[in-house]
Amino acid sequence: MPIQVKRLLIAFALFFIVFFILVYFLFPESWGDIGPYRSLALKEIADKEPKYVDTESCTMCHDSIANLKNDGEHKSINCQTCHGVGYKHVNEPETNKMDIPKGRDFCARCHALNAARPKNIIKQVDVNEHNKGEECVSCHNPHKP
Ligand code: HEC
Ligand code: HEC
Ligand code: HEC
Ligand code: HEC
Repeated sequence: MPIQVKRLLIAFALFFIVFFILVYFLFPESWGDIGPYRSLALKEIADKEPKYVDTESCTMCHDSIANLKNDGEHKSINCQTCHGVGYKHVNEPETNKMDIPKGRDFCARCHALNAARPKNIIKQVDVNEHNKGEECVSCHNPHKP
């Protein structure tokens, strides 16, 4: 065998040895158990505490607001879409305050004129003109606008 080929073979052998050592140390535990990913990742995600609660949990204590909302144009919007995550509040409402959205910018997130939004699905106003200077909630009840 010519010396060049021998050197090449040695180089390849070294390459594969280093490669497999790296694979051994760098691949995370549970990689490939059930597919080309870390199977433990599924368990880690499932173990996380849920942050959003179901809407019925809010209705339990705030039934009059829930009834009002279900009777109006905002019925399709979840309480937590506007008030933030509720998992702490539902257990200890006095010590875990919910957000109370304030200001015209908040409503503008959904109701500002936007060419990408179909007007027949969500009503839009020019927030720079529509009763400017006044809080939206001074005229529109956010729970039944
Ligand atoms: C479209 C957004 C939106 C949704 C959906 C919404 N809220 Fe509100 N909520 C507001 C805003 C804005 C205020 C503050 C009103 C103000 O400042 O006068 C508020 C105020 C409140 C308040 C405190 C003042 C009050 O009226 O007693 C409570 C409690 C409340 N919301 C509960 C709920 C519950 C429960 C739901 C679901 C059934 C809900 N909200 C759904 C926007 C929303
Ligand atoms: C166990 C009863 C209970 C449940 C369940 C509950 N709340 Fe409340 N909530 C209260 C009480 C009591 C207050 C008044 C707290 C205070 O004034 O200190 C309150 C106050 C609020 C306020 C006014 C801001 C604040 O935190 O004081 C908002 C907004 C609110 N709740 C929204 C919600 C939403 C949204 C849900 C569902 C994710 C929910 N609540 C579930 C009892 C409850
Ligand atoms: C998460 C998006 C969202 C937010 C935030 C929101 N809205 Fe709405 N709003 C809607 C949807 C969806 C409807 C139902 C479709 C429609 O009628 O435009 C609606 C309906 C309305 C309507 C009735 C329009 C009509 O004549 O049918 C008014 C008025 C309104 N919202 C005002 C407000 C005000 C004021 C705020 C702030 C307190 C607000 N909205 C925050 C999504 C939102
Ligand atoms: C001074 C009272 C007042 C204030 C403040 C006010 N509105 Fe209105 N809004 C009205 C009245 C009255 C109507 C119905 C007549 C009209 O379309 O102008 C209306 C209509 C709407 C509509 C339905 C438009 C349609 O095409 O049918 C939306 C959405 C709306 N307002 C959102 C808002 C938002 C968002 C704010 C804050 C940025 C706001 N409003 C502030 C009085 C008010």
